[in-house]
Amino acid sequence: MKNFFSVKDVENINDLLSKALKVKANPLANQNLGKNKTLGLIFYNSSLRTRISSQKAAYNLGMDVIVLNIGNDGWQLESKDGVVMDQGAAEHIKEAAAVISEYVDVIGIRCFAGLEDRKLDYSEEVLQNFIKYATVPIINLESSTLHPLQSLADLVTIESNKKKVRPKVVLTWAPHPRALPQAVANSFVEWMKEADVDLVITHPKGYDLAPQFVNGVTVEHNQKKAFEKADFIYAKNWSSYTEYGKILSTDQSWTVNQDKMSVTNSAKFMHCLPVRRNVVVSDEVIDSENSIVVEQAGNRVVSIQTVLQEFLKK
Ligand code: CP
Repeated sequence: MKNFFSVKDVENINDLLSKALKVKANPLANQNLGKNKTLGLIFYNSSLRTRISSQKAAYNLGMDVIVLNIGNDGWQLESKDGVVMDQGAAEHIKEAAAVISEYVDVIGIRCFAGLEDRKLDYSEEVLQNFIKYATVPIINLESSTLHPLQSLADLVTIESNKKKVRPKVVLTWAPHPRALPQAVANSFVEWMKEADVDLVITHPKGYDLAPQFVNGVTVEHNQKKAFEKADFIYAKNWSSYTEYGKILSTDQSWTVNQDKMSVTNSAKFMHCLPVRRNVVVSDEVIDSENSIVVEQAGNRVVSIQTVLQEFLKK
């Protein structure tokens, strides 16, 4: 694995999952692997879980960590080629990526979608330019269209909680007052298609994910029907892909509640967090014993530590 941008960088998802389960069982097994190595974390956007879990994972491996918040303590970076840089950006990614590579051994980057220009967001300009110009491995900490570390943590969570070989996993759209990217949903679908699960997506009309992700997956527009006999319910809001970045519905009847959970196979409730209570999911569901959102967030340490190990072992 040269970089960790998407599931396509993973040679064998089952091998990676086995390694992740070993990390979960014994997180301090490789305390010297990262000795004298440094992880650089670059954030264009806010974070709680990604920021802290990445640092914790690096410390578990004996690495040092440097964090740079673009826009607050770093120069604004230009990502387009050939532009006259007479506007806000003081530095080009070409120099920045190469220079940061002089200081650190692995770079993690978070840069969300702008949700205004679909073509631009789906070109993944920032992450792809870092991959192009850095000389060390790049880890995607959530880009415009993907959140693979979340998906690997989700896979570990499902594997640790499943009661049958091939569980039914339902990804359900849920309402939200703000327009959110499709990254978590895209990535979850991409990873679950590779995993041994029966995946169903449910969302209101107009919320179809990009065809390259959803192709071949069952989509059921009746949410309660989709929930029937499900073993895992994964709730997430995303804005429209077709009417790009728009909120087409805030229909509260899509909130995950106990009535809908009652038709499942006593399903575990999952969400990547942060979550808006009583908008995305009712208190009753997220506070129930079937909610595994905290364990899921805990597995974010496992997912990045597993990926870091892959790079450090080279
Ligand atoms: N799930 C997730 O990536 O959380 P943060 O945005 O807080 O990092």
